[in-house]
Amino acid sequence: MKLIRTPHYQELSMKAAAIIIKTIQTNPTAVLGLATGSTPTGTYERLIKDHVENGTSYKDIRTINLDEYVGLPTEDINSYRSFMERKLFSAIDINPKNTYLPNGNAVDIQDECARYDQLIQSIGGIDLQLLGIGENGHIGFNEPGTPFTETTHVVELTHNTRKANARFFKNIKDVPTQAITMGIKNILESKAILLLASGENKAEAMARLLTSHKTTESFPASSLFQHQNVTVIADEAALSLVD
Ligand code: F6R
Repeated sequence: MKLIRTPHYQELSMKAAAIIIKTIQTNPTAVLGLATGSTPTGTYERLIKDHVENGTSYKDIRTINLDEYVGLPTEDINSYRSFMERKLFSAIDINPKNTYLPNGNAVDIQDECARYDQLIQSIGGIDLQLLGIGENGHIGFNEPGTPFTETTHVVELTHNTRKANARFFKNIKDVPTQAITMGIKNILESKAILLLASGENKAEAMARLLTSHKTTESFPASSLFQHQNVTVIADEAALSLVD
C-alpha cells in the first residue's frame, strides 16, 4: 500500500486526478471504477478542468460505479446516477452508453446484482477503482462484517451510514434503507485501487488502516492489504492520528 500525504483537500484532488488522467492516457479504453460522496468531487472537478483545458478524451473510456441506492428514481437528485451526471459525465465527452451504475429500480434486485457482476466481467474488469472510506472503514457500501468473498449484493444500510448520508436529504427518513453495492471481491479484482481520505472525521479510520495492518472483516478497508496495487491519498486532517 503506497501512501501519498497531501497538505489539504485541493492537493489530494489534484494528485488523484493526475493518476486517473495518466491511466486514461496510457489506456484510452480503460475501465474506471468510480465512487460518489463528498471525497471524489474535487477530483471530478479537476478531471473536468483538464478535459476542457487539455482535451483529455473519455470517448472510449468505460466507467462503472460502486453502488446505487435501492428505490430512488434515477432522476432523483440523490440517486448516484444523477450525482455522476451532475458531477462528471455531463461535463466530459464520455458516451453515456459507456457509463454503468447498478439499477436500484430493477424489478428483481437479486438478478440485478448478478447482471452487474457479469457486466464487470464482460467489459474486461476494472483497470482503476476509485474509493472513498466510511468513518467505520466501509468501502462501497460494504459495512463491517461483510465477508471479503462477497460480489455485488444488496445491503441494508446501517443507521450510522444513513445518518452520515442524511446531509444530502431533507430528512433522515428520506434516506433509502437499502443499496446495491459491488462486493469486496469485485473491488479486489480491480487491477489498481486508489483510495482517498480527507478530513478529521476520517482520522480514526485512517489510523486503523495505516497502523494496524491487520486484515479483519470488522474493518472492510483492511481487505485492501490483500491487493498488490493500492495507492492511498490522504490529507493532513485525515492523517492527524497517524505519526
Ligand atoms: C460512495 C461509496 C462510499 C463512500 C464513503 C465515503 O460511492 O461507495 O463508500 O466512498 O461513504 O463518503 P464521503 O466521501 O462522502 O465521505
